[in-house]
Amino acid sequence: MSIITSLPITVQAGLIFLGVFGSLLLVRRLQKYKHERDLLPLPPQPTGSFLVGNMAEVIAASKIGQQHLLFHGWAQEHGEIFRVRVGPFTEYFINSDAAVKEIFDKSSAQTAERPRWIVSNEQICNRLNVLLLNASDPRWKHQRKVIHSGLTSIPRADAGLPFLHYETAKFMHELANNPTIGRESKELFNAIGRYTYSTFASQTFGLDIPDTNDPTIDYIFETGLAQIQGTLPGNHIVDILPWLDNLPLFLKPWERDARKRFRRDMDWCIERLMRIRKGRSRNVMQDAFLPRVLEDEKNLGFASVEEAAYLSLQLIIGAADTSKMSTWSFLEAMMTYPEVQEKGHEEIVKVVGNRLPVFEDLEQIPYVRCLMKETWRWRPPVSLGHPHMTTRDLEYKGMRIPKGSRLHLNAWAIQHDPDRHEDPDRFWPERYSDDLTNTMQSINASDVRNRDHFAFGSGRRVCPGYHVAERSLAVTIMRFLWGFKISPGPDAKLPLDPRDFAGEMPGNPGEQMPVTVTVRDDKTRSIITQAFKEAAATRVQLVRTLPNSMICDSLTFCNRNRLPEIQLGNPQLKRP
Ligand code: HEM
Repeated sequence: MSIITSLPITVQAGLIFLGVFGSLLLVRRLQKYKHERDLLPLPPQPTGSFLVGNMAEVIAASKIGQQHLLFHGWAQEHGEIFRVRVGPFTEYFINSDAAVKEIFDKSSAQTAERPRWIVSNEQICNRLNVLLLNASDPRWKHQRKVIHSGLTSIPRADAGLPFLHYETAKFMHELANNPTIGRESKELFNAIGRYTYSTFASQTFGLDIPDTNDPTIDYIFETGLAQIQGTLPGNHIVDILPWLDNLPLFLKPWERDARKRFRRDMDWCIERLMRIRKGRSRNVMQDAFLPRVLEDEKNLGFASVEEAAYLSLQLIIGAADTSKMSTWSFLEAMMTYPEVQEKGHEEIVKVVGNRLPVFEDLEQIPYVRCLMKETWRWRPPVSLGHPHMTTRDLEYKGMRIPKGSRLHLNAWAIQHDPDRHEDPDRFWPERYSDDLTNTMQSINASDVRNRDHFAFGSGRRVCPGYHVAERSLAVTIMRFLWGFKISPGPDAKLPLDPRDFAGEMPGNPGEQMPVTVTVRDDKTRSIITQAFKEAAATRVQLVRTLPNSMICDSLTFCNRNRLPEIQLGNPQLKRP
């Protein structure tokens, strides 16, 4: 004591302060510990390092495209829910159909939020991207409503069929007449990419992408990639330490880059917006999402037409790669299971005969429905779900999921659970022989055990595009099987092992997949050629494009030097 009293008064005061502060901290910790001890336990977690949890394993698995297998293994070990710490983030994985029903569907009001992504949602997308927006943001509700009424309801999905039929006919024509495309898997992958991107660009902007080498495809892909990468744990330091967001702009290089990117993307959208406007004034517009927004007296309730244009870009991003991957996985199945391929071909030819199949044929060919369901079960394009966040504590079978947790619908684990699907690694469409439901009916099944798969997510954030996706995959499957033979390439290592050609999307094949596709015979080739000629002649006219300079001159938004403050509702873009 005497030592303390001999110290200067300021040091004594400091020590007293530290003592009081320390005791308070200790009391709080004890209270928290006691509070948590009285609560239900958290879900189990795999053993990991004290400091960073399981970060090393997750990174190692990501490098070889095998995260889905790592998380599947943990699901088998820990059951319906487990949590895993990756650095400062804890992620909860939901691994059973029953838990999905309880947590995502029945508690959807508490699990529809997204985690906070400062760079991706707030800066790169300026809070305009439906996929990243919080469910509590009124813009999210509005965008979902408009997506449904303007693009993805059954009538609007049907209105997109002419684009889909045209684009797939063009693709078949290219494939049948240029054997290099079918021989080189990279070329085939790109050609599939062109028709999916072009179909959705036609349905959203009313502008097609006629050439496989069009830089638009890479641009859209790269834009989507940056947004998604920004949602991965630890990608941006400010998402780990949110207080950094309060620093002045000159100390935040990530924000300057993100704002620039937003400006660039917005310019890109506005450029297309202006093309459509010019097209309209010449009376050459078509039945697509954005032209319809412009047509509408109140721009379908959008605060600005720029928001609608930006949403159109996001819709291509959401639609194109998932659809392209579905086609690619389907080809993997067909080259691996030739007997399924032949059966599919016969079932289609029986109904369709000597013409190109169309979506309307699906009703008469239930086997195609089985092929679609099995493709999405076997290789879900979004195999680990897009994270949701809880807005209050939830309870499931004696476990607690705290408020603010990040939830993943582990579609891969559920769809490869042998208790749910016999012999889950086998591509076996007959498992769905008694299931005639379409995607919507299956999502809404009252008994979740009857749900076909979880590829489109669940709850309030369920993918709004499934009617459109269904049309796309049905037509793709029917047209491939009707006209082409799919087999492993000459360099393929047999027996085929998906780990040899793993792609960037976990659980999906990569573009290096050794597949070849050849037209069945000369007669088929000439039917395709004739059908494409007719499709091109009767095609809905596209909006005419203008040189960029003519469009940008009239727009302050196109001035690329004016950064970074963002405003929407540019009066020049309002309806005349
Ligand atoms: C095979 C094709 C597709 C698959 C597998 C797929 C899958 C998904 C998944 C898993 C989600 C996240 C759901 C969740 O958070 O629980 C999602 C969201 C979304 N999808 Fe799709 N999708 C596909 C096609 C489409 C298409 C064609 C469109 C539009 C025409 C579309 C538009 C969207 C949008 C806007 C969201 C964000 C919804 C929100 O956050 O509220 N998708 N999709």
